[in-house]
Amino acid sequence: MKSIINYIKKKYPERPAIGVVLGSGLDAFCQKLDSQVNISYNDIPNFRKASVKGHKGEFALGKLHNQNIVCANGRFHYYEGYQYEDVAIIIDILKGLGCELIIMTNASGCVVKEWKVGDLMLINGHLDYSFIKSNNKPSIISDGWYDSDLLSKVTEIASEININLRRGIYTWTTGPSYETAAEIKEIKQLGGHAVGMSGLPEIERIHNLNMKMIGLCCLTNYASGISGVELTHSEVVEKAQNSQEAFIRILDAIIKKY
Ligand code: HPA
Repeated sequence: MKSIINYIKKKYPERPAIGVVLGSGLDAFCQKLDSQVNISYNDIPNFRKASVKGHKGEFALGKLHNQNIVCANGRFHYYEGYQYEDVAIIIDILKGLGCELIIMTNASGCVVKEWKVGDLMLINGHLDYSFIKSNNKPSIISDGWYDSDLLSKVTEIASEININLRRGIYTWTTGPSYETAAEIKEIKQLGGHAVGMSGLPEIERIHNLNMKMIGLCCLTNYASGISGVELTHSEVVEKAQNSQEAFIRILDAIIKKY
């Protein structure tokens, strides 16, 4: 881990206070950074290769609104075969680089019929629907995990820039296949609003490392059984790309005000 962090620090010596983990199809945000340094995961000695389509697999470091930012453009998923504890290595790296705040983003399925595909959702609680740690029915975790001041601040920022930011419970499923309609029905009953295959191991690591976190989901499709349309990964990436404009605006505004 130390050698990975030192390798990045050598290429970009300034300390980034904010780390952004970018989900599938959400990489255009990196282009906003000035004096940008890009480090491919493939070029970092002893590091992993990113293998999921729609993920470039690089760190992009640079400045935005006079702050040093690091974007992880590409993350690792449990379904790629990593141990639960190893999925969140990106967070350990961002912490090692000096980040205090992590903005977690991902592409998610929308469980709420009344919301629109392309909406953004701020995470204010989560459900672990992976059944890795327990076979019990999952219940919503929120107390002590999602900072209410940060949630209010982000909601305020969104309304200032006219973004209809939803708020809700993110549900983690292991993937790689999309959920069945029956699973989505249950997730809805349990209180979930969005469902995705990344994030929870990372959210947990951020929590355990006492870092600040903002979680944003880009709702790229209706979850299985909500609209009757079949899901594909290429469609998810395409829809994520379509809602990048709002996504970039909100990230930009959060970083400006932080
Ligand atoms: N389910 C799980 N993960 C996802 C989805 C979904 O519907 N959309 C994007 N990532």
